[in-house]
Amino acid sequence: MTELFQFMSKQKKTTRKASAKRKSTPKQPAATSNIESMMHEDRVFAPDKEFSKHAHIKSMTQYKKLYKQSIESPEKFWSDQAKEELVWFKPWKKTLQWKAPDAKWFVGGQLNVSHNCLDRWLESDIANRAAIIWEGEPDSLTRPGEERTLTYRQLHREVCRFANILKRHGIKKRDRIIIYMPMTPEAAIAMLACARVGAIHSVVFGGFSSQSIADRISDCGAKMVITADGGYRRGSIVPLKKNVDDALLIKGEDGELLAKSVEKVIVHRRANIDIHIEPNRDFWWHRELEYVDANCPAAKLDSEHPLFILYTSGSTGKPKGILHTTAGYLLGAKMTSKYIFDLKPEDVYWCTADVGWVTGHSYMVYGPLANGSTVVMYEGAPNYPEPDRFWSIVEKYSVSILYTAPTAIRAFMKWGEKWPKKHDLSSLRLLGTVGEPINPEAWIWYHEVIGGKRCPIVDTWWQTETGGIMIAPLPGATPTKPGSATLPFFGIKPELVDDSGEAVKKGEGGKLVVRQPWPSMLRGIWGDKKRFKEVYWSEVPGSYFTGDGCRQDKDGYFWIVGRIDDVLNVAGHRIGTAEVESALVSDHRVAESAVVGRPDDLKGQAIVVFVTLKEGVKASEKLKIELRNHVGKEIGPVAKPDDIRFAEALPKTRSGKIMRRLLKQIAAGKEIQGDTTTLEDLSVLTRLSASEE
Ligand code: WTA
Repeated sequence: MTELFQFMSKQKKTTRKASAKRKSTPKQPAATSNIESMMHEDRVFAPDKEFSKHAHIKSMTQYKKLYKQSIESPEKFWSDQAKEELVWFKPWKKTLQWKAPDAKWFVGGQLNVSHNCLDRWLESDIANRAAIIWEGEPDSLTRPGEERTLTYRQLHREVCRFANILKRHGIKKRDRIIIYMPMTPEAAIAMLACARVGAIHSVVFGGFSSQSIADRISDCGAKMVITADGGYRRGSIVPLKKNVDDALLIKGEDGELLAKSVEKVIVHRRANIDIHIEPNRDFWWHRELEYVDANCPAAKLDSEHPLFILYTSGSTGKPKGILHTTAGYLLGAKMTSKYIFDLKPEDVYWCTADVGWVTGHSYMVYGPLANGSTVVMYEGAPNYPEPDRFWSIVEKYSVSILYTAPTAIRAFMKWGEKWPKKHDLSSLRLLGTVGEPINPEAWIWYHEVIGGKRCPIVDTWWQTETGGIMIAPLPGATPTKPGSATLPFFGIKPELVDDSGEAVKKGEGGKLVVRQPWPSMLRGIWGDKKRFKEVYWSEVPGSYFTGDGCRQDKDGYFWIVGRIDDVLNVAGHRIGTAEVESALVSDHRVAESAVVGRPDDLKGQAIVVFVTLKEGVKASEKLKIELRNHVGKEIGPVAKPDDIRFAEALPKTRSGKIMRRLLKQIAAGKEIQGDTTTLEDLSVLTRLSASEE
């Protein structure tokens, strides 16, 4: 998705007319609404009878019955599901051990995620079906992208071989491994190989900078990095290995190398470019294959054995390493894939997320493979070389299920119907969205133009922390309302509460919390128990706090409004305002900065930065560009600000807190006119709004 993001950041702001015509629903909480157009689209879309007939869940009655059981007797429900869905080496003794905020699921059981995604299919017809169909980015209009298909049997073999390479290089259970890869099958192979030997992977999105890699290595003490020489992006090559080399040289405040824990780097050859190979540290993947065989039994791991750490932004400057474990996570990913996408082994399923985000983990790798489905994986951007890339892939592979982000859909709308119309999309039977609220306009377009009015749309709400989808329709059962993620999945008990933690009345907005533990919930923040408790479990004691604002309508449908903490959602990517602020103040010319979001038609939210400069530093257009690039270097292109505004001083309350609400209003206001490098005097606002504490 970075590509899309980069594309969009280059776009001029599009008109706001379309959404302005529509009025906000008055009942919404005054949270950071990036969906002011969540408005009056009153149509309700009932599931198609024919679809329901063949679906896993066929009616609302069936959903309600199962949901009731799952909430009233969660342990029985999950225990039955875990028996049914997963393959175990050893059964568990206790289904749930819960002492908020610590959950242990399926205590005493043993299994392996890679075994559940691969080995279990080897004795069935699925063995010789495609597990991954991969398409590389095309070189041009005339040179199509490479194609590669790996059957379940072949994928199993490759995972076993690579797992043996890990062992050969001394990797043991619980060792942390950073994966910094382009969208190639090797990314999935690396993840599954880690899972096979019990190492903990932490995938770092390929659009992140060397600094971000180094910070993550330092936080989790990674012993190995798996990367590629380079990855293709819109016709150019991203120097992934070079970024890793640079990361390994970055020093922390104490003068020590941040990445000193890294002993080995394994490099997949993708781009065929010249790179530095450090003797005894760096090894080519393809060379190492010469030393190993394909015999590698899956390690027998405890249910709570850590599977991966995935860093995500929070409200402080430091990203949080969200920890997921084995059995509960896999059960969540598998069941939600099966029921929400109505996934069957015959499906050709395509999730367009990058493997660096949680969606790429749960719904490109673990969930669909645990269901024995065929996964499409695409390396490139949606509009390179032309804006019909996605549709040509759907046609070429007869994709039946497509899962993408509202940002992408809005970009497709902008590029026009002619691109999808060039292709036969009749293989599609279900569409999904994730990552941010979808405005009903985009929902309807997706339904009509891509889904040919026949495909149900599942708007899925969840988070890195939840491991799997929490609120979404079941496509054969739930009537959908454009813009609403509808109803909770089995075993999930979301509720809206006010500031005192009391449930709000139906129709009123509130903070979204989850009242009961669920198997795929995060088990903690790597190395920071205190922060785990504070961020998620102290806002409403005993309940999981999501950080999102939400409203429930008279039918009990959930309408997510967006983040109510200091986290932005830019093109479906979470970006902490504090992270961007600390990147900015690390530039020696910046005295202080405040980062806020403003609504953006394409990206949901755009990043606006208010900066005060140090004595003697002059504001200029050049400085703006330098600061943008500085943030890109510190975090990655995803975090580059859209607007930078220089101010004499930032508006503050008497106690010295920056008045973000006010800045948000200014940021959302009309375009700044005239010389944009003049310092804005915001001090008058401080006086006017001194009451905002
Ligand atoms: C937002 C992505 C509205 C929300 C899977 C959440 C959504 C954050 C939706 C998590 C949706 C995700 N409707 N908002 N269907 N899905 N969000 O961790 O604000 O990258 O808290 O996980 O994205 O982002 P994350």
